[in-house]
Amino acid sequence: MLHPVVTELRQISEKARVFVSMPYIEGLTPRIFGDLERVEAVDCGECVPRRHGIFRMDEAPLSPLDHGGLYGDAVFEGILVINGRIFTLKEHLERLYVSAERMMIRIPYDMATLARFILRTVQAVGFSQEEKGYLRPVLTRGFGNLGIHPSKCVAPTFYCIASTIRLYPPEKYEVGIEISIARNARRATRQFVDPNIKSNNYLNNIFALIETKDQERLETLMLTPGGAVAEASADNIFVIERLPGWLEDPSQVTLKTPSPEYCLVGITRNIVMMEARRAGYRVEEVPDMLPIDMVGAEREVFLTGTGAGLMPVIGVKGVPVGDGLVGPITRNLLEALQRNMADPRFGLALNATDEDLEAYLARPSPIV
Ligand SMILES: Cc1ncc(COP(=O)(O)O)c(C=O)c1O
Repeated sequence: MLHPVVTELRQISEKARVFVSMPYIEGLTPRIFGDLERVEAVDCGECVPRRHGIFRMDEAPLSPLDHGGLYGDAVFEGILVINGRIFTLKEHLERLYVSAERMMIRIPYDMATLARFILRTVQAVGFSQEEKGYLRPVLTRGFGNLGIHPSKCVAPTFYCIASTIRLYPPEKYEVGIEISIARNARRATRQFVDPNIKSNNYLNNIFALIETKDQERLETLMLTPGGAVAEASADNIFVIERLPGWLEDPSQVTLKTPSPEYCLVGITRNIVMMEARRAGYRVEEVPDMLPIDMVGAEREVFLTGTGAGLMPVIGVKGVPVGDGLVGPITRNLLEALQRNMADPRFGLALNATDEDLEAYLARPSPIV
């Protein structure tokens, strides 16, 4: 019998397609890029020629000298395909371009061209309307010598995986999850690795999960070096405080989430904050939330992220949040997020034409 991890990997790889783009240098670039029946040669105004193509998972060519793999010198995004649309594609691409700029890596394509290649890759998978998918665009500094110096990389490599995804089991959205707290691994601050560069340096977050030990706990809370709540290992975190009279008066509900100095400004976080304001709740970004602020009476807690969506949290390291059940404010916001996921304004249709794509990118974001 196959190991369950292998079974899951096979499931997500089966239909997957990967767009790969890299400089073409004979003797260095993986050989499949020499086959012009399989790939396209493009001029992106770089000092070396470039080629790109769409591959299956078991043939996607990446270089062993790539500084993304060697040093984590890369940026990425995680994007959801849901209800026949690439959800919040524009917002993710904008964040990718910002991360790349902060790392001083030039994306070789303009946003519309990149979006078109991503769309072609998703179309090559052939998702059904009901199927959920996941996109992972990654931009690396490209291949270079074995030293870390960025000037030794010729030009970036870009790839985008489009695959199916296994999210949290659906029943968890009904009953919520328990999370732990990482005692040792801390969320790096701006002085180390800016949390708002979505880089491939996730070691601290991985250490935080290793600390968890309990395999049942799928997420763990990370603290700032000073001990305040920062975010979870791959999700943002929210705490709801319900003051007396909250049932009649939504302004008696306050949503608190850590300030952006300490966390990634998640796209799901932004949607949830927008919906909370619309519902009349107070929304605050706070730098000094303590783990103890998350538990006790009249509290609700949830995580937000592309993969998780909005996941209710009913306990933190064994201590119940509120009455230990998923609360009504959390349910309201989960429904609001699901409504947005079904709203055509929030994404690009999988059957979009090039004109649809241009129009989509030109429209202002519905997230305000
Ligand atoms: C560290 C971290 N925080 C928060 C998030 C949630 O961000 P988003 O809602 O944009 O997926 C992610 C997801 O990528 C993450 O890796």
